[in-house]
Amino acid sequence: MQFSVITLFPELVESVVAEGVVGRAEKRGLMELKCVNPRDFTEDVHRTVDDRPYGGGPGMLMRPDCLLKTIRSERERLGKAKVIYLSPQGKPLEQSMLQALSEEGSAILLCGRYEGIDERVIDLEVDEEWSIGDYVLSGGELAAMVVVDGVTRLLPEALGHKGSAIEDSFTDGLLDCPHYTRPERIEDLDVPKVLLSGNHQHIEKWRKKQALGRTQLRRPDLLQNTELNESDKVLLIEFMKEIKTSEVKS
Ligand SMILES: C[S@@+](CC[C@H](N)C(=O)[O-])C[C@H]1O[C@@H](n2cnc3c(N)ncnc32)[C@H](O)[C@@H]1O
Repeated sequence: MQFSVITLFPELVESVVAEGVVGRAEKRGLMELKCVNPRDFTEDVHRTVDDRPYGGGPGMLMRPDCLLKTIRSERERLGKAKVIYLSPQGKPLEQSMLQALSEEGSAILLCGRYEGIDERVIDLEVDEEWSIGDYVLSGGELAAMVVVDGVTRLLPEALGHKGSAIEDSFTDGLLDCPHYTRPERIEDLDVPKVLLSGNHQHIEKWRKKQALGRTQLRRPDLLQNTELNESDKVLLIEFMKEIKTSEVKS
């Protein structure tokens, strides 16, 4: 997977490959990250990348001339890469968008700064706008890093264990089940007995039930878009009954 990130702060974005899953993926050649600075595509002596907005108002905007040159040079280098502008006005980011991008092979991520970018850059060269949430950051770099991280961990061989990403939240429309490690007892809390049973069928069933129940309790909106089979429906009913019983007991 090749990422090109267009940013005024390359060092900030490059730090995403310093550690962890993303860092290892880059070292193993599964993913390549190149940051390109629009300042390198300016022609004036001050290397100006921003200017005042027409019509007045507070703040500055990123100029279209150097941005268009930067994007076009990266398009030429990468061939079919999609240009994604990180923007609070974009499509809310979801796991399925990361999955689809991980299958594309390349992407150009455009990071805004100041009050954003000249609208004509979006008209001329942006394929999609993606938002990482309904809040405003001071720049697109953190959002681009979210995309780089989220896509990289989905690349084949990026995670130590092949099944990890498949079992994560959102992959099958559900939240992940709770997980436990040693010690078996901490303070007065025990690991659920079924997980110590060695019976893999029972463990799988328990995990599915917890994932269904958790999704119902925390994100019922996800369940509305997920087709449950008959056995899932039974598990969910059991989970809700168990919750009620434990509430009555306590
Ligand atoms: C201060 S913001 C500009 C906000 C813009 N004036 C607006 O209200 O839509 C500067 C840059 O940060 C990035 N940004 C801010 N919030 C974001 C979010 N929620 N998701 C993705 N990118 C974001 C965008 O690249 C944006 O151009």
